[in-house]
Amino acid sequence: MCVMARYYIEGGARLHGEIKIHGAKNAVLPVLAGTLLMDECTIHNCPALTDVTAACNILGHLGCKAQYSGGSVTTKTENVQNFEIPDDLMREMRSSVLFLGAIVARCGRARVSLPGGCELGPRPIDMHLSSLQKLRVEISEDHGYLDCRVNGKLRGAVISMPFPSVGATENIMLAACTAEGDTVIHNAAREPEIQDLAGFLNAAGAKITIGENGTVYIKGVEKLRSTQYSVIPDRIAAATYLCCAAITGGSIVLHGVIPGHLNAVLPILEETGCTIRVKYDTIELTAPERLKPARMIRTMPYPGFPTDSQSPMMALSCVADGTSVFVENIFESRYKHAAELTRMGAKIKVEGRVAVVEGVESLHGATVFCTDLRGGAALVTAALKANGKSEIAQISHIERGYQDFDKNLSLLGAMIVKR
Ligand code: UD1
Repeated sequence: MCVMARYYIEGGARLHGEIKIHGAKNAVLPVLAGTLLMDECTIHNCPALTDVTAACNILGHLGCKAQYSGGSVTTKTENVQNFEIPDDLMREMRSSVLFLGAIVARCGRARVSLPGGCELGPRPIDMHLSSLQKLRVEISEDHGYLDCRVNGKLRGAVISMPFPSVGATENIMLAACTAEGDTVIHNAAREPEIQDLAGFLNAAGAKITIGENGTVYIKGVEKLRSTQYSVIPDRIAAATYLCCAAITGGSIVLHGVIPGHLNAVLPILEETGCTIRVKYDTIELTAPERLKPARMIRTMPYPGFPTDSQSPMMALSCVADGTSVFVENIFESRYKHAAELTRMGAKIKVEGRVAVVEGVESLHGATVFCTDLRGGAALVTAALKANGKSEIAQISHIERGYQDFDKNLSLLGAMIVKR
């Protein structure tokens, strides 16, 4: 019988020390999909995450040699012929829909099982599909599969998105960079991961420019060439470690970050009383004994406050001297961690998209269950401060997005064991 590992955390230790931040999960996944458009690639700064393994498994299934070694993935696509991603591989990773644009561009056809619901509420892909249709992809649905075909070549188009979806923007970029003619994406997502995908595709010969207002312009090219690329550091992992240090009244230094990517998060941490110092690619945080409330946090598309940092920030607010209000504007049900935090003594009221957190004097250890990746990180954040022992179950969610989370926290002085 396979018993899933858990984290056991004894709260109370102040985090102190220095760590290096790994490559960004959300940057590497679309980049890996993009390797299908080139003969050979080496992608550096790839984090060792289960989502990255899942992406490599999809590449492998399609006929691409994808090998992970020492933080880099090398790919060879000469034998890519398969254009179908079966249900089990689609389910391994929510973001597998990102492969659609690249497979269609490479093979002229793609068949993927329909992604199901998800732990953050319904996660529709209507914008992905309607955009691909604008590029001349014909899409039909049969037996739970999406069948995408191109009659001839993909053709560039002007696409206006009703909402700046990160995944849909990436899918269009992947499909359009080798399409005939030009593509313009209005109201495109402006997350740093979009810039990174453009950087990668351009390194391979694509012609993508991003305007001041985030509009993406793509001039279709015949073919992309083999390349090497290093993905950006993970801004969400960085924000999580800062929250972990802040809640314990600790002081840490993060290396290998792009501080500008955390422009919406750092001022909120300062509002809670933390002192932040930013130098080139490091962020230094020193936290006070007791935190002040963050007052109002509204998640927004970049450059606004990231939805992925909402949950660790909520963990902080649970022990702040006052009340904080959260408004979740990106995903419908992204407060599942709130019920688990309540088991640790937090006072949180959730009403639709709003959560009101009344800071308490102290949290107590408890057995809690990760409901999703970032929600799981929030439970660890809270457990680091809680009095006594916590047992965190279903940590496979956390391992999708944080490399060596327990080891890094241990290095910083946390009492955490995985078994
Ligand atoms: C990406 C990130 C995720 C982050 C999110 C928002 C990756 C692998 N994941 O997810 O960590 O939380 O951006 O910053 O990069 N929507 C539709 N129809 C669509 C597409 C999206 O209604 O066709 C909705 C979604 O349900 C959601 C909102 O738009 O409510 C934002 O989604 P989107 O920006 O697409 O997020 P993802 O790319 O899935």
